[in-house]
Amino acid sequence: VTTSTRVPTTLGRVTVEAEQRLAAAGVLTPRVDARWLVMHACGVDPWRFPDAWVDAEAARRLDDVLRRRVAREPLQLVVGDTGFCDLTVRCRAGVFVPRPETEVLAMRAVEAANRHDAPLIVEPCTGSGAVAAVLLAHVPGAHVVATDVDPAAVALAEENLARVRAGTSGRPAARGASAQVRLGDLLTPVPPDLRGHVDVLVANPPYLPVSDARQWEPEVHHDPPTALVGGPDGHEVVDRLLAEAGSWLAPGGTLLVEIDARRAPAALKQATTAGLLDAQLVDDLTGAPRVLRARMPDPSVPNRARADRGVRS
Ligand SMILES: C[S@@+](CC[C@H](N)C(=O)[O-])C[C@H]1O[C@@H](n2cnc3c(N)ncnc32)[C@H](O)[C@@H]1O
Repeated sequence: VTTSTRVPTTLGRVTVEAEQRLAAAGVLTPRVDARWLVMHACGVDPWRFPDAWVDAEAARRLDDVLRRRVAREPLQLVVGDTGFCDLTVRCRAGVFVPRPETEVLAMRAVEAANRHDAPLIVEPCTGSGAVAAVLLAHVPGAHVVATDVDPAAVALAEENLARVRAGTSGRPAARGASAQVRLGDLLTPVPPDLRGHVDVLVANPPYLPVSDARQWEPEVHHDPPTALVGGPDGHEVVDRLLAEAGSWLAPGGTLLVEIDARRAPAALKQATTAGLLDAQLVDDLTGAPRVLRARMPDPSVPNRARADRGVRS
C-alpha cells in the first residue's frame, strides 16, 4: 500500500479474499472470477505474481468491481469484454453476453463458409456481433450481413466489427473480408437481391420458453429478455427462421442454427420439412446437441443416400 494507515497486502491475499466473498454470494465460479477481477482492477495476473503488492488505488478499484460481481452482475459486463473463439469481444449492459457454447456455432460457420470462394454469409440475431466478428476475422473474401432488432445490439456489433478491422480484437479482418450490421427483424433488413445467394445462414436466435426464467441464475437476468425468449413456448423465432431459410440460401448453402437441446428432435424434423437436406445435430463441448446444421438442395449435385435422414455428427 502507499499510505501509512493500511497494512500492506499482496495480490495473492486479495485474490483469496475475493474468492471467499464471491463464493459467499453464490457465484458459481468464484476462483476464476476472483482471478479475472483482480487482473482487471490491478492490471496483473495474481496467479503469476501472488507476492506483488497491491496499492490503495488498485484495492479501491478491486472493491468496486467485487461489489458489482457479488451483486451477481455478469463477469463479462463488469470487466467489459469476453474471449470468444480467438477474439476479445466488447460486452455492454443491455446486450446479450456471448456464451462459450456459441463458439461451436461460430467455428462451424467458419468451416462451412471457407468451402466457398468469397462467400455471402448472413447472420440474423447478431447481438454483440461476436459470431460476425469471428467470420470477418477467419473467412477471406467473405461478405457478412448481420441483423438485430435491438438498436443497442446493432451499435455494439458495429463497434466489435470495427475493432476487428482495426486489428484490436486479437485478430485482424481476413483478406478481402467485409461485414455490415443492419437493424430489423430477422432477414427483413437483408438486401432483397441477395435472396437465393446466401452461402451460409448462421444464427443464435432467442430460443428459450418464457417459463425457464424462473430457473435462471441472477446473471442471466442481465441479458435482455428479447435475446433469450423466443415467444411463450420458445420456438417462435427459430420457426420463422427455418421457414424462411430456403428462400435465402443458395443451392448447396448451409444453415447453422443454435437450438435448445431439449427441442433437438423437433428442430431436425422441422429442417427436413422446410426442404433442407442432411439435417444434423452438432454437439457443444458439454456433449449437448447445440447446433442444427442442414444444407440447401443443389440440383447440380445428385442426392446422397443419407439425404433427408437426421444424423448426429
Ligand atoms: C441469443 S442472442 C445472440 C447474440 C449473438 N449472436 C451471440 O451468439 O452471442 C439473440 C439476439 O437476437 C436478437 N433478436 C431477437 N429477436 C430478433 C428478431 N426477430 N430479429 C433479429 N434479431 C432478433 C436479440 O436482440 C439478441 O441480440
